[in-house]
Amino acid sequence: MKLLLATQNRGKIEEISRMLRHLNIELIKPEEEIEVEESGKSFMENAYLKALAYFKRYGIPTLADDSGLVVPSLEGYPGIYSSRFYSLDWGGKEEVQNSKDQANIKKLLRLLEGSKDRRAYFKAVICLMLSEEFYIFAEGVCHGEIAESPRGSAGFGYDPIFKPLGYEKTIAELPPEEKDDLSHRGKAIRKLSHFIEKCKHSIFYQRAHSN
Ligand code: IMP
Repeated sequence: MKLLLATQNRGKIEEISRMLRHLNIELIKPEEEIEVEESGKSFMENAYLKALAYFKRYGIPTLADDSGLVVPSLEGYPGIYSSRFYSLDWGGKEEVQNSKDQANIKKLLRLLEGSKDRRAYFKAVICLMLSEEFYIFAEGVCHGEIAESPRGSAGFGYDPIFKPLGYEKTIAELPPEEKDDLSHRGKAIRKLSHFIEKCKHSIFYQRAHSN
């Protein structure tokens, strides 16, 4: 069975590949980025839109992740705008100096300066699309709080400023396998991998015989 990963985000590709390794399926990374207008109002809608766009182009089972960081004291921002938070008018734009990730972090820390309520959670919704009519979703959430300053170099995105509940370290200071155990993406992928494991032969069979 081939499974297309509908993303160009290297951090996501690395994590998802690591977590699906045991399934022995061929993971396909798209050669070119497909411009998907993330016009949905939720992670779920955007995960669906990404899966559909890639499925239409490649025509094989596709897995799409839409995820982000939700900060309740900031009205839920960055939320579905996590990857381009730095560029939003909301909260003031942040100039990109080194990377978009760093600009996002800088803006978030600026907006939370002096704030006592630093609670936050990561959320991931993953859409597994087997045909345009048959697709399923899995969701994962990881609660924690925003650190005062960035620490660590593992992972990607907001990892250097996110401390999972019960941890003093940020995710970027944890080994990758520990992130997988507790992360939003890890939780969502584990739900789906049970499903893929159980039916990968029948999915494969149906596709082979419908062509
Ligand atoms: P998407 O590619 O539109 O789903 O945006 C995802 C964005 O959310 C990323 O670019 C990161 O900024 C953030 N994000 C999602 N998952 C993680 C994570 O596991 N660690 C850190 N940041 C994340």
